[in-house]
Amino acid sequence: MALATTPPGPSSYIAFSKAYRDDPLRAFGQAWKTYGDSIRFKALPGVDVYFVVHPDAAAHVLTSHGQAYRKAPSVHQPLSLLLGNGILISEGESWLRQRRLMNPAFHRQSIVKLASVMTRFAQERVRRWEGYPTGSAIDVAEEMQQLTLEIVGEALFSTGLEAQLDSFSTAFRRAAEFINDRINAPFKMPMWVPTKPHRQFIENRDRLQQIAMHLIGLRRHQQNVPLDLLSMLMAAQDADTGAQMSDSELLDEVMTLLIAGHETVSVTLSWAFHLLGSHPEVLHQLQDELETVLKGNPPGAEDYMHLPYTRMVIEETLRLYPPVWGLSRETIRADEIQGYSIPPKSFVIVGTYFTHRHPEFWTAPEQFNPERFTEAEASKRHKFAYYPFGGGPRICIGNQFALMEATLILATLVQRFHLEPASGQPVEIDPTFTLRPKNGLSMRLVRR
Ligand code: HEM
Repeated sequence: MALATTPPGPSSYIAFSKAYRDDPLRAFGQAWKTYGDSIRFKALPGVDVYFVVHPDAAAHVLTSHGQAYRKAPSVHQPLSLLLGNGILISEGESWLRQRRLMNPAFHRQSIVKLASVMTRFAQERVRRWEGYPTGSAIDVAEEMQQLTLEIVGEALFSTGLEAQLDSFSTAFRRAAEFINDRINAPFKMPMWVPTKPHRQFIENRDRLQQIAMHLIGLRRHQQNVPLDLLSMLMAAQDADTGAQMSDSELLDEVMTLLIAGHETVSVTLSWAFHLLGSHPEVLHQLQDELETVLKGNPPGAEDYMHLPYTRMVIEETLRLYPPVWGLSRETIRADEIQGYSIPPKSFVIVGTYFTHRHPEFWTAPEQFNPERFTEAEASKRHKFAYYPFGGGPRICIGNQFALMEATLILATLVQRFHLEPASGQPVEIDPTFTLRPKNGLSMRLVRR
C-alpha cells in the first residue's frame, strides 16, 4: 500500500495569507485551480490548514469518518461568545441531548404549522412595499433581514419582534463583524482586556441577550401558552433522563435559533432576487408557475408542495451562493482523506462553495439553472455534490424550515413585484460570517 502524502499547496505563508485576507473566495478559488481538490496551506507559522473540495472528501469528513472530527475551536470559540454552548457549538453528549430535545420542534408536522406565519409576514411586507412609489430603490438585503427576523421571532415566541427589530438587527450585524474579525485574527486577545472593540462587542451581545431574555421572561408569566418553538423548547424533556432546559441553556438555544434562523434565509433570498434580476427566462418561468398554481390568490401554507419550480430557484440559489460557504472542523485523531494524511489537531475546511461549482459534477457550473434540481436530475448526482445545509449528524436542524420559508416568501413577493437591478454595477460577494452581497443589494421595486 502506498504511503499517504501531504496535499500540495502554496509554499509562501505571507503571500497566501495576504491573498486570503484581501478576498478569501478568490484566494481559495485560485489555490483550487492550481493545486486541485485537496490543498494544504499555512494559516500561521506552524499552523497548517487542509482545504478539501471533492464530494467524496465532504462525505468522508461529515459522515463516514465524522467521528475523527469536531467543530474547529478557532471558529467556534469566537462564535460561542454570542451563542454560548447552544446546539450549533456544543459537542458530544451535551450536543446529542440538545439535538434530541429540539428535533421534535423541527419535524415536518411542526414546521408545516409555521407556514402560515411565514405567509402572513410576507403578505405584510407586500402591503408595505405597495406603499412605495413604483420604481423606488430598496435595499433588498436589509428588507429580507427584517422579514426573516420577524418570522423567526414569531415562530419562536409568538410575539412580534417588531419593536426590537432595528435594535436587534444593528446589534447583531456589529456583533457578527467582531466575531468574524476574531475568527480571522492570528492572535486573539483575551476578552477580559477592556479594548474598545471588546467593550463594544459586549454591549451589542448584552443588547441581543436582553431582548431574548425579555421574551423568555414574558413567557414565564403567560397564562395561555401558545404552541411555538419556545414552548416546545421549554416543555421538551430528554427521552432518557426526563430533564428540561435550564434558563441559561434556553437563552443559548434561543440566541442560536434567532441568529442561525434568520441570517441564512435572508441572504438566500437576497441572492435569489439578484439572480432573477439578471435571468429573465427563469423569472418568467417562475411567474408562470405562480400564475398557474395560485391563480392570483396569495400563496398559503398548503401551496408549498405545489410550487416545485419556486423551490428549485431557491435550491439553485443555494448552490451558487451557499450562505455557509465552508464547514470548519478539527481532526481529533490522525486521518487520511483521499490518500492524503491529515495529522491530529489539524484545521480542515470543507469548501461547500467550491464543491457546488465543481466542473466534474456540474455542467456549466457558473450558470444559474434551476432545472438542475428536478427530481430526475438531482437523483443522478453524487450525494455530496450539493450540501448547503451540511451533512451527517450535524446537518442543519432548520433545513426544512428554511426551504419552506424561502419558497413561500419568494412566491409571495414575486407574485406582486418585479425587482430590477438598481445600478449597472456588479454585485460583489462579502464572505464575512455568511456569504452576503457586499454593501447591501439595491434594487428597484416594480409593481406587476
Ligand atoms: C438557507 C438557510 C440555511 C442554511 C444555508 C443553513 C446552513 C447550515 C449549515 C451548513 C449547518 C451545519 C454547520 C456545520 O456543520 O458546521 C447548519 C446548522 C444549524 N442550523 Fe442552519 N441553515 C439555514 C437555516 C436555518 C434555520 C432557518 C434554522 C432555525 C430556525 C437553522 C438552525 C441551525 C442549527 C440550530 C444548526 C446546528 C445544528 C447542530 O449542530 O445540530 N438553520 N445550518
